[in-house]
Amino acid sequence: MPATPKPPLFDLSGRTALVTGSSRGLGRAIAEGLGDAGARLVVNGRDPDSLAAVAAEMREAGYDVREASFDVAREDAVEAAFAAFDADMIEIDILVNNAGIQHRQPMVELRLADWQRVIDTNLTSAFLVGREAAKRMIGRGYGKVINIGSLTSELARATVIPYTVAKGGIRLLTKGMAAEWAGAGIQANAIGPGYMLTDMNEALVNDPTFDAWVKGRTPAGRWGAPDELVGTAVFLASDASNYVNGQMIYVDGGMLSVL
Ligand SMILES: NC(=O)c1ccc[n+]([C@@H]2O[C@H](COP(=O)([O-])OP(=O)(O)OC[C@H]3O[C@@H](n4cnc5c(N)ncnc54)[C@H](O)[C@@H]3O)[C@@H](O)[C@H]2O)c1
Repeated sequence: MPATPKPPLFDLSGRTALVTGSSRGLGRAIAEGLGDAGARLVVNGRDPDSLAAVAAEMREAGYDVREASFDVAREDAVEAAFAAFDADMIEIDILVNNAGIQHRQPMVELRLADWQRVIDTNLTSAFLVGREAAKRMIGRGYGKVINIGSLTSELARATVIPYTVAKGGIRLLTKGMAAEWAGAGIQANAIGPGYMLTDMNEALVNDPTFDAWVKGRTPAGRWGAPDELVGTAVFLASDASNYVNGQMIYVDGGMLSVL
């Protein structure tokens, strides 16, 4: 043992983490996991009332939480949120670009407005929030950006083409962020969750055919639980990953590795 013990590699004490879309699902699980590792949390969602209720529950459970309700797909709203952080001297050390939506429809029936909404919410949001966070991280010479991709960052699936395009974009946006910001002490990486048990997938979980397909197609033989993303998120948010950049880590029960 060294005379002065080093801080644990995965300790996030003193760091502030903004997790977009953290009022429920994977975002909430990731936020609570980062909080368990010591981070102060800024939670986000579009609806201020439901976000306030979630933040109150998290505070009750002992987390240090502030809420910031804004639409991640709107440039003016994102810029205003970061101006408010600046005014309150809140420095975002860790950004998790998690907010996302799904829209299932065959491409020949798809309207431009739905294509645009999915691209804006799942991909453009990571550009907008990432840009505002990185502007400030670059000045401080430190920052962690974690983008949430999907198995569709690698593989297509019928009826979810705009989602697939957005998540494929997340994979290369992550590499682009690493290319531009690694020299400034920022690491940008991504997590690709497999099929996880969240509200977004409720209809699929309740469809016996789809449920059986997921269980049969996933080597682990089951859906993932949201808190199974926490270990990877804490790793990518902590000093343990200081020389890891531009990577995408799939947390999918082995699904992408097998036919
Ligand atoms: N559930 C899965 O199996 C799965 C698999 C792979 C990737 N993902 C991705 O993980 C992320 C979270 O998914 P989830 O299953 O928890 O979804 P969810 O629908 O349960 O939660 C999505 C969250 O994003 C928020 N959100 C949506 N649009 C927003 C906007 N414009 N501004 C701010 N917040 C907004 C919602 O309020 C909600 O809090 C998404 O990016 C999704 O694509 C999910």
